[in-house]
Amino acid sequence: MKHEIKLHKHQVDSLEEYQRMYRLSVDDPVGFWRKQAERLSWFHPFHTVRDIDMDEIDFGWYLGGRLNACFNAVDRHIAERGDKTAIIWAKDEPGEYEKITYRKLKHQVSRVANVLLKHGVRKNDTVAIYMPMIPEAVYTMLACARIGAAHTVVFAGFSGEALRERIIDAKASVLVTADQGLRGGRKVHLKAIANRAVEGLGIVKCILVAKRTGADVEMRAGRDYWLNEEMDRERSTCPIEWMSSEAPLFVLYTSGSTGKPKGVLHTTGGYLVYAATTHHYVFDLKPDDVFFCTADIGWITGHTYLVYGPLVNGATTVLFESVPTYPDPGRFWQVAQDLGVTTLYTAPTAIRSLARESDEYVTKHDLSSLRILGTVGEPISPDAWNWFHDVVGGGRCSIVDTYWQTETGGIVIAPLPGAVPAKPGSATLPFFGISPVVKDDDGNTLEGNDIEGNLCFGRTWPGHARTIWGDHSRFKDTYFSHFPGIYFTGDGCRRDEEGYYWVTGRVDDVLNVSGHRIGSAEIEFALNEHDCVSESAVVGFNHEIKGTGIYAYVRLTEDALQEDREEVIGGLKQQVRQVIGPIATPDYIQIVPDIVKNRSGKMMRRILRKVAMNNYTDFGDISTLLDPNVVEDIIEGHKALIAEREASQKGKKTA
Ligand code: WT7
Repeated sequence: MKHEIKLHKHQVDSLEEYQRMYRLSVDDPVGFWRKQAERLSWFHPFHTVRDIDMDEIDFGWYLGGRLNACFNAVDRHIAERGDKTAIIWAKDEPGEYEKITYRKLKHQVSRVANVLLKHGVRKNDTVAIYMPMIPEAVYTMLACARIGAAHTVVFAGFSGEALRERIIDAKASVLVTADQGLRGGRKVHLKAIANRAVEGLGIVKCILVAKRTGADVEMRAGRDYWLNEEMDRERSTCPIEWMSSEAPLFVLYTSGSTGKPKGVLHTTGGYLVYAATTHHYVFDLKPDDVFFCTADIGWITGHTYLVYGPLVNGATTVLFESVPTYPDPGRFWQVAQDLGVTTLYTAPTAIRSLARESDEYVTKHDLSSLRILGTVGEPISPDAWNWFHDVVGGGRCSIVDTYWQTETGGIVIAPLPGAVPAKPGSATLPFFGISPVVKDDDGNTLEGNDIEGNLCFGRTWPGHARTIWGDHSRFKDTYFSHFPGIYFTGDGCRRDEEGYYWVTGRVDDVLNVSGHRIGSAEIEFALNEHDCVSESAVVGFNHEIKGTGIYAYVRLTEDALQEDREEVIGGLKQQVRQVIGPIATPDYIQIVPDIVKNRSGKMMRRILRKVAMNNYTDFGDISTLLDPNVVEDIIEGHKALIAEREASQKGKKTA
């Protein structure tokens, strides 16, 4: 459907047109999604658009079809646009760029695919990827797809233990990493972390190491190989493995309210149709667009809107290795100016931190190429929205606040540029084929407008996750049991008088820290493993930059109480970094004599959350508490901790 890319006008021109298409998509989903599937090249056509069993929660799309994700993202573009830039790598050092054409991409991906084959990777295997934002990371993702292996990308900011856990769960036999990562001039010792992660792990037979910094790293003979050397030895062609539509494309781990991270599975046909369709409409795609998605490939945003969406649509995508503040807070705008970026897609947390700096960092750059500004990951405040619109967009650009999740595969609520009028702070209206349903806590569906409740989706769509890797019953329990038979997102929302959606944030025990999902339970688990800890409770609190900060209440063991408090707290923070990664480090750790519990021993998070947010009243009925005095102790301790922090910050400022 390349002919559908219109020049000068929007993909959807008016609210009426959006409404007409939306109606069509929900009244005749089979017809609508059959048509959208024409965006892809199919090796063999499908016979059934969808086959859904809501009892077993079994979703199938484009059954009978065969295709390959790498072929769709790379090979099929060669004839028409082999010399077009597919990827622009913006290296860590400002001003350093490398352009990779679709033709070169095909050669490099094929080489990596041959390397993987040589090292024993076969169709239906899984390959773990623990890499910085370098072209080899994208090559490896696509190379896996080419030979029919599923990839599981682990964010390079996660710890060795977190990596190990994911490798074991995904049963990956090959790990692809780099000597070191480079972010904001700082080195991240990826190979060293990877070595620790696989220590004693029999399942990992081979580690392929991309050379980024040239550091001297420990390589084990017979197991570790330099990826680039191996690539040089391989041919630049590699046959395509044609996969069925429902063949696994990737597994991506994400946090839930309980237990360990879950491997969310996305399959080939439906995911790709959804990635391409949403990328086309939500970002109002034009043939010469330069698409700058600032997300890391370790997250779903990187998968869908840095790699698969743009490449399947034959666009140019920017791979940004650095951080928004290196060498100064003007870096995004520098990249946008240098590369003629048309579409910038980032997170509210980045916008909030950059908006605090002088506007001059933005305005000294020529940003006239920008047309669309997107945000994702958490609710955006009207202040941040307006700054993005007025200062970055110069009042000319469409702002698209896109709501979605790892599990939804792609954007599910967002305004279509030129068609749906925005309201700052609202993700606005559902994408085609998506039916939001709002439920009250008792499971009643709230009809009409001007209501507030739990956000669910009433029917499935091609990009919806199929299962949790290796644990389908957990998939059913996690998402389809709160409100039987309907997908529950874990978010709360309001539907306003005009039917616009305002996502208010998680209603479960998942924390959204700088747009990253972290389960309270995971942090508690990490803390509880430490020798000094008897018990812990982790809650979120409002944080100016991160959106949600992490607040941990910890009851120490008798022995630990004798030790230096500062040292113990430092050790606990270190523990969380080691078990999960720096992003999960608590902002505050409060040592408490006891954790607030009710008489049946249930932790009273509601109260702990209030105290962490400086709210010492409205606790509701506390008569069921095991020991109501504990609440007083905790409040006093909280006040002392906050006062101490403020004093030390003042001290720092005057020093
Ligand atoms: C959670 C999903 C999808 C890519 C990024 C995060 C929150 C996401 C928005 C938005 C309000 C949002 C939700 C959701 N979220 N986008 N536009 N407005 N909240 O993916 O790690 O799976 O996290 O992010 O709470 O459940 P994820």
